[in-house]
Amino acid sequence: MRTIMVFNPKGGSGKTTLATNLASYYVNQGQSVLLVDYDPQESSLEWIDARDTDKKLIPIYGMSGVEEKIRKFPDTDVMIMDAPAAVHGKDMRELLKLVETLVIPVIPSPIDMRAAGHFIEAILSERRVSQKKLRLALVANRVKERSKAYHSLEVFLGKARIPFITHLRDAQVYLRAAETGAGIFDLPERSVARDLEEWQPLIKWLKGRGSRPSA
Ligand SMILES: Nc1ncnc2c1ncn2[C@@H]1O[C@H](COP(=O)(O)OP(=O)(O)O)[C@@H](O)[C@H]1O
Ligand SMILES: [Mg+2]
Repeated sequence: MRTIMVFNPKGGSGKTTLATNLASYYVNQGQSVLLVDYDPQESSLEWIDARDTDKKLIPIYGMSGVEEKIRKFPDTDVMIMDAPAAVHGKDMRELLKLVETLVIPVIPSPIDMRAAGHFIEAILSERRVSQKKLRLALVANRVKERSKAYHSLEVFLGKARIPFITHLRDAQVYLRAAETGAGIFDLPERSVARDLEEWQPLIKWLKGRGSRPSA
């Protein structure tokens, strides 16, 4: 089973958006997907509830990680975890123990970049990271491509000692999709061609060896 967590202690960086869209990607690849929501706000679980009412969409299993002990559903191929905001220190370490792959979204904002700088330092000092048992990726999110803010983010992420995989543009389609419990991978390809293209490097990275613990 694959375990992927979307993590960034900062709220509003796009954890839920990336987690739900990753779930939509894998389920459309014919995989059985469990989405575990660690955020007491339960945005990912609400997304699944909205999805359940739309009979055209392939079901995704959901559970809260807040109080429940994680239970694997039968034949789960991919477990995607949506992390809460504001976890640090020991709580962060406990969460990170559960996964092999961590995707870190960062938005083009000086405040978020500064916070991400501290968080990246903290995570790089984790033993599981130096032992390559936990693999990391950075994704720029909510990007306006030609903006100065994005340029700064690109420079910042490019210098980080974690691979900077792709950027996702700031697009209404993510909001519209989420309304009905969908991700962009559930939508007709032609309506989201550009966004699908932006996801490709992340999908490729997730397929490759670099996103999994080394043997
Ligand atoms: N690429 C994007 N384009 C447009 N809106 C986005 C994008 N990513 C996230 N959002 C919006 O930004 C807000 C915060 O994103 P969310 O995924 O909830 O972050 P988090 O889970 O880290 O708090 C939400 O309203 C979400 O719909
Ligand atoms: Mg969230």
